[in-house]
Amino acid sequence: MTVKTFFYGLSASFAIPWLIMVAIPYGSMSSMPNVEYDENKDEKTGTFQPLHSGRLGIGSMIYAQEGCTMCHSQLTRPTYAGNDVFRDGQGGFKADPERGDTRRITNYMDFDGEDMANIGETRIGPDLGNFGSRVSSKTVEENAVLAKELGVDVSELGDNAFNGELYVYQHLFDPRKFIVNAKKSNCPKNPRFFEKKKIYGQGAVDAVFEKDGYQYVPNDRGRAIASYLLNLKRDGDVPVSMIYNKAKLLKPAPAPKKEEKPKEGAEEAK
Ligand code: HEC
Repeated sequence: MTVKTFFYGLSASFAIPWLIMVAIPYGSMSSMPNVEYDENKDEKTGTFQPLHSGRLGIGSMIYAQEGCTMCHSQLTRPTYAGNDVFRDGQGGFKADPERGDTRRITNYMDFDGEDMANIGETRIGPDLGNFGSRVSSKTVEENAVLAKELGVDVSELGDNAFNGELYVYQHLFDPRKFIVNAKKSNCPKNPRFFEKKKIYGQGAVDAVFEKDGYQYVPNDRGRAIASYLLNLKRDGDVPVSMIYNKAKLLKPAPAPKKEEKPKEGAEEAK
C-alpha cells in the first residue's frame, strides 16, 4: 500500500460516516415543514402548534442540568423504530374520554421554546413526554374515588381533593417516602429543590411535609422544574394526520359517505 492510498483510505473512513451521520441528517432535518391541519378531517386550517405554558425554558434547563435525561426519555418513536406508540399514556391515551385514541409519535414542535430537546439517553425511568397529562388524568381518577368514599360530589372535595402539584413535589423530594407505588423507586431524591422553613401561622400551602415546627417548601428551582414537568403534555388539538390510530378518534366526526347518492339515483332509474 502506498502512502497516498493510505491517506485516501483514512480520509474516506472519516468522510463517509460524517456524510451519513451528520451532513445528510442535518440537510434533511434543518428545515422541516410544519404540520398543517386538514380542513376536512380536522375541521380547521392553519399550522399545528402545541400549547406550552409554565416556566418552560428555565424548567427545561434545570431538568437538563440535573441529569434527569440520563434516565428519562421524552420521545415516542415511530413504529418502525420501536413499539412506544402502543404504550398507553406515553404519546397520548388509548381511550381519551374526549377524543378517543390520541396516541401519536413525538414531533419536533413538542420541544418548541426549549433551548435543547431533552429526548433522553436511556429509559431507566418512565418516558416523561406526556407526564403532565398523566398527572391530570390521575387527578380526575383519584378525586372520583375520594368523592365516592366520602359520599360527596367531586366539586365539594375542597382541601381533600388530590393535588397534582403536591404529588410532583413529593416525588421530587423523595419518591420512596411519599409515593405509595414507588416504595422501591430508583428515582433519586432531590432535597436540594426544597428549603427548610420555620412554620409561622398556617404555614406555606405547598409544603411537602412538616417536622418539629419546620416545613419543607420548594425553592425557585423546585418550582420551575415542577412547572415544567406538569406542562409536559402531548394532548392538545393534534392534527388527525399525526395520530397513530386515526380510525379510533372520536372527534372530529367521520365524513358522511359519498357512495349513497349514486345508489339513490340508480334506484330511481330502475
Ligand atoms: C437513576 C435514574 C433516574 C434519574 C437520574 C432520574 N429518575 Fe425519575 N425515575 C426513575 C425511575 C426508575 C422511575 C420509576 C419509579 C418511580 O415512579 O419512582 C422514575 C420516576 C419518575 C417520575 C414519575 C413518573 C411517572 O410517570 O409516574 C418523575 C416525575 C420523575 N422520575 C422525575 C425525575 C426528575 C425531574 C429527575 C431529575 C431531577 C429524575 N426523575 C431523575 C429513574 C430516574
